[in-house]
Order: sequence, then structure tokens, then C-alpha cells
Amino acid sequence: MAVRLAEVDPLDAGPRPTGLAELDRVLGGGLVPGSVTLLGGEPGVGKSTLLLQLLRARALSGEPVLLVCAEESARQVRLRAERLGPLPPALHVLADTDLTSVFGALSDTGARLVVVDSVQAVRDPATTGAAGSPAQVRACAELMVSLAKGAGVPVVLVGHVTKEGALAGPRLLEHAVDTVLSVEGDRHHTLRTVRAVKHRFGPTGELGLFEMGESGLEAVFDPHRLLLGDRRPNQPGSSVLAALEGRRVLLVEVQALVAGRPCGANGPRRQVQGLDSGRVALVLAAAEHPLTVALSDRDVFASVVGGVRVVEPAADLALVLALLSASRQRPVPSDVIAFGEVGLGGEVRQATGARRRLEEAARLGFRRAVVPSGCCPGPAGMRLIRVGALDELARLLGDEGMARRAGAAGAGARPKPAGTIGPWRSA
Ligand code: TYD
Ligand code: MG
Repeated sequence: MAVRLAEVDPLDAGPRPTGLAELDRVLGGGLVPGSVTLLGGEPGVGKSTLLLQLLRARALSGEPVLLVCAEESARQVRLRAERLGPLPPALHVLADTDLTSVFGALSDTGARLVVVDSVQAVRDPATTGAAGSPAQVRACAELMVSLAKGAGVPVVLVGHVTKEGALAGPRLLEHAVDTVLSVEGDRHHTLRTVRAVKHRFGPTGELGLFEMGESGLEAVFDPHRLLLGDRRPNQPGSSVLAALEGRRVLLVEVQALVAGRPCGANGPRRQVQGLDSGRVALVLAAAEHPLTVALSDRDVFASVVGGVRVVEPAADLALVLALLSASRQRPVPSDVIAFGEVGLGGEVRQATGARRRLEEAARLGFRRAVVPSGCCPGPAGMRLIRVGALDELARLLGDEGMARRAGAAGAGARPKPAGTIGPWRSA
């Protein structure tokens, strides 16, 4: 029966804090009762650890919670959980791959939060197919949606994702659940990021930051210690990007390496980490001519240091600086940051949140910023270097590529003394 929308009972339950502040930041306050959340990420990134911490935090407040572990034995889970701290009595575990047994366990324990680790390892006996098959994953997701809605408890499902995000499961799962969170990180770094890819109850885009330590994941309050701590001043091929992730500004190091010689017959290699490879390809194509540096026939490596991933187009300008610096083997001074989008014509476009980026960079001691020409004024103590198009950047940085070519042609151009790139020194 159709009803008046205005007469529909709004869900009385808003988000409830999880006890993990960084997770609440991503979720816009916490988990909504009756909602289903999928937590995806590559194996070993820390999904099980994060969810055990979530369960512990709830259980410590005396609320019964239930972990369905289908990948590990209860004993293994206990060993891991003990690394995180004392075990609260309200934390229950059900080691079973038959998902229908959750309904019984839920009424036995009175759990107010259910975690299923993982959705690829459980089965619905009423559906054919092996655990993890698309039919099973869909059936299990539907079971959990009905359990969440019926009992009014939040359910969190773990979903494994391969490097390519290829697994059939999580893709089709995304439609069935209310929220999709993604845990990312580089196994060689301790930083882990959590972001919402889909969220029915709030905005996506907020970033949660954790550091994997001896006793689980800890909230990170000073990410720049991890992101910029190892940065070497006077290293060519490195620049600092002021990235905007949700409401948080992250200063990250962008590195580029450009091969000194043209590539072989197989074409140039492009190796990208932490950046969007499509944008890197675009920037390489758009920058070659205005910067007068060879890029199209060179192997190029580009990365963001520290295990974070930055996909916003505002990363382009910092990448161009790193590429230019790498090609000319001249460092970008260590007090310079950059942000701005590069268009196909080599024009530099505005980025959102410019003021916040500049303020955070100034707070961290940066003094100069390469920005789009229409950028807002910077805070006190921050000098803006406004760039409308990439050829201005090349001119600004001293047109040494041209000078060298003129020198080779016998025009008598004197090579500039080694140092940082062109006019930086006059600043
Ligand atoms: P895990 O949560 O098992 O990852 P996932 O469920 O995503 O596969 O995390 C695995 C890694 O985390 C493993 O390499 C061990 C490490 N770890 C720590 O460094 N400290 C800890 O306190 C815990 C519990 C795990
Ligand atoms: Mg796991």
C-alpha cells in the first residue's frame, strides 16, 4: 500500500559511535543500526584486525557483540585478539561457515553488532555453489541484509579484493549493502587508510588514518611524520603535494624518475604507485611539449610515498614539478608545495579547497606554493607562484632545456651553475 512519505516513520536510529574515532570520521558518526557495511581490502591489509578492535570497543562498554569467523578457528582469533588487549566477556565468537547458524547465535548472545569474516568464506546451505562463488556471495549478502533489518543490528562483512579489484564477490556486493569501506595500505609501510566508497547515510570522501603496530591499528594524529619523515632535501625528482582528502589536508611526497635514455623498441614503461595511472599518462602527454623535456620515449616511474593513494586531479601539478625536477636533475626546494589540475592543453586548472591546502602547508612550515593562476590569496608567510599554463612553469623554472640546446648549436650559452631550479634561488 502506498503511504504519504511525510507520514513514514523516520528511522529513529542515527549513527552510533563505534568507539574508534577514525572509523567514526569515515562513517560520519558511526554505524547505523540495521545497516550492512562491507569492508573491502587486499589480504593482509588489516581488515580482521580493525574489526576485532571494533568488536572489542563495543564489547568493552558491556554490549554483546558477535564475530562469525569462517576463515580462522576460534583459537586463532583468540590469539590475535589478545594482542589487542584483555578480552571483554561480551565478545562472542562463532566459528562456522554455515551462515544460517548466525540467526541462532544472534538470539543466544543478544548481540548488538555482528561481523562476518569473510563473506567469501561463508555459505548459505539453501544455495548451490562453493563458498565465494557469485551465487553464494549474493545469497549470503541477502541473508545478512535481512538479519540486519530484522534485528536492527549493524552487520559488517569482510570482503577480499584483489589488486585489480577483480573479485566478482565484492563488486556485486556493493549494490546489496548500505556502505562500502575500503582499507588500503602498502605492506612495506605501516600507514593504513580507510575510506567510504559508498555510503547511504552520509558523505563519502572522509579519510581515516591508522598505523599498524604491535597491538593492532592505532589512530594517526600526525600523518606527516609518516608521510614526509623520510624525505631527503635536495633530491631531484621529488615534490610535495598538498592533497585534500575529505576535510583533511595531507602533505605527501610525489616522486618521479625519468630514464636518461630513450626506451627500446617495446615502448616506454610506465610504473605508477599511489597515483591514478590514467592521470599520469595524461600529464606526461600534456607536459612534454610545454616543458621541453623528453617524456614520451622515456621509461617513467611515478609514485606517492608512504602507502597512501591520491587520485584527485589536483595532484597533477606536483607530478609535473617532480617530472621536471627529475628530467633536469635539479631538486625542488624543500619549502615548496604544489597543487593544481593540468588540462589536455597544458593549462593549469583550479583545485577545490585551495585555502585549506595552503593553510595546512603553512602550518607545517612550507613557505612557497606553486598554484593555479586563479588561486585565492595565501596565508601570511606563504608566497604563491601562480601558473596559468605549463609553459609558464617551464619559463619560471629557467628554460634550461632550451639553453642547453642553444649551447649545443654553438650559440655560446653558458651552463647554469648546479643548484635548485632557476628562479627558486631568487625567492
Ligand atoms: P589482518 O587483519 O589479518 O589482515 P586481513 O584480515 O586484511 O587479511 O592483518 C594482517 C597483518 O597485520 C599481519 O601481517 C600481521 C599484522 N598485525 C600487526 O602488525 N599487529 C597486530 O597487532 C596484528 C593483530 C596484526
Ligand atoms: Mg582477515
